Amino acid sequence: MRVIERPKLHFTARENWLNDPNGLVYYQGEYHLFFQHHPFGTTWGTMHWGHAVSQDLLHWEHLPIALFPDELGTIFSGSAVVDWQDTTGFFDGQPGLVAIFTHHLDTDTGVLERQSLAYSKDAGRTWTKYDGNPVLVNEQETDFRDPKVFWHDETQSWIMVVAAGQRVLIYTSSNLTDWSYRSAFASSNLGKWDGVWECPDLFELPVEDKDQVKKWVLLVSVGSVHIPGAPRTQYFVGYFDGTTFVNENKEETVLWLDYGGDNYAGVSWSDIPEEDGRRMYLGWMSSPKYANVTPTKEWRGALTLPRQLELRTTAEGIRLFQHPVEELVTVRQLVKTMEASIIQPDAPLISLVEHEAFEVIAEFEWKNAAGFGIQIKTADREHTSIGYRCDENWLYIDRSCSGKVDFHPEFSETQGVAIALREKRLSLRLIVDHCSVELFAEDGEVVMTSLIFPSQACKEIHWFADGGTVKLKHCEIYTLNS
Ligand code: FRU
Repeated sequence: MRVIERPKLHFTARENWLNDPNGLVYYQGEYHLFFQHHPFGTTWGTMHWGHAVSQDLLHWEHLPIALFPDELGTIFSGSAVVDWQDTTGFFDGQPGLVAIFTHHLDTDTGVLERQSLAYSKDAGRTWTKYDGNPVLVNEQETDFRDPKVFWHDETQSWIMVVAAGQRVLIYTSSNLTDWSYRSAFASSNLGKWDGVWECPDLFELPVEDKDQVKKWVLLVSVGSVHIPGAPRTQYFVGYFDGTTFVNENKEETVLWLDYGGDNYAGVSWSDIPEEDGRRMYLGWMSSPKYANVTPTKEWRGALTLPRQLELRTTAEGIRLFQHPVEELVTVRQLVKTMEASIIQPDAPLISLVEHEAFEVIAEFEWKNAAGFGIQIKTADREHTSIGYRCDENWLYIDRSCSGKVDFHPEFSETQGVAIALREKRLSLRLIVDHCSVELFAEDGEVVMTSLIFPSQACKEIHWFADGGTVKLKHCEIYTLNS
């Protein structure tokens, strides 16, 4: 079997292991991306913060490791902010970057997780740990990690959301060094899953189709292996007043950010300039279930494409919609368009794409078919199917024949979600890289991210239809180069 090729578009560490994205912050024309990194091996190990920067969210420059373990522990996940007003006093009255992270320490008597700071006076090139670390300790909590910090204008204070067992704790501070406890958010609907909460994020978004209405979104990655699908990221929509978050949905409403198996621990960028105003996010494109054994060699772990998050009103309520960031159009080249074609059962090959990442935009319409979809063929009898079963309203990614699947018993399970369509129409946008499929259905309302490990790069794209015909109303295929 050939060596699994690195993704073309998706971020990977220069070598060795990567998991969560950390410290996403925009400063002086650069998007910073830090990440959980084990620099000495291709499995999870002693955690450091790796570092890269980009000007367009697609081309990344690798920088030296930013944060190394010290006597307080290894460096777990966290965030970064621009301290514009030098509230910390670290920057002689100038703005500067502050990273807020978890120091994780294994001791003879148990695990200690405490929140600490590091700062940079040179746009993230070098980092100094604060000499008063840790800045936040909570002796009641064993799992107490992944601080996400942001400036809250209305109350003129820093807010920290931090995961603690199956709760998110909220703290405030005027200077990032002294923190006061404010409230705890928990949700009884999570009682049924036994995993800890990780990597919370809290931000405000306008509701796109409602003038002047804004809502707060709380993301929480739920580390349970008992969730249908995989460990996943849940989100809550509600209200935040500077101290307390209130979920405005019913307790039984469970909203998942992504229905695929491979998007975990994602968080959003801080300090995106107001004139841009986007809320951009990316996640770790793997699953804690099998991340340590995926079949790659010099590197292991990739991130999803950066995505823009939006809130829109649907018949079910206000929901998060996701799109790949618009910068993606700068790296794509049109290969083919099709209008109003009928897809017969066993539809012929319509395109050939080799050794490229590519994008497919397709809109289907049907009357009596039982199912249809797109098949990405990588070798003889090797393919990944992205399809819809009309009778069950079931959108799925089937990677059971996608190549290397036997490294974990659950990897070949089909991933899917029921989506109730109001008309017999479905729109899909698909981004396929060497090792991944990201599916944005219905204009980003439903998203599924899945790893694949084919023996060769994609050769052909096929359409399929079962038990009737389906109309491909419109289709565009692009190659993507980065
Ligand atoms: C999520 C996570 C975080 C933790 C980090 C350690 O994947 O478990 O909670 O900080 O990874 O690498």
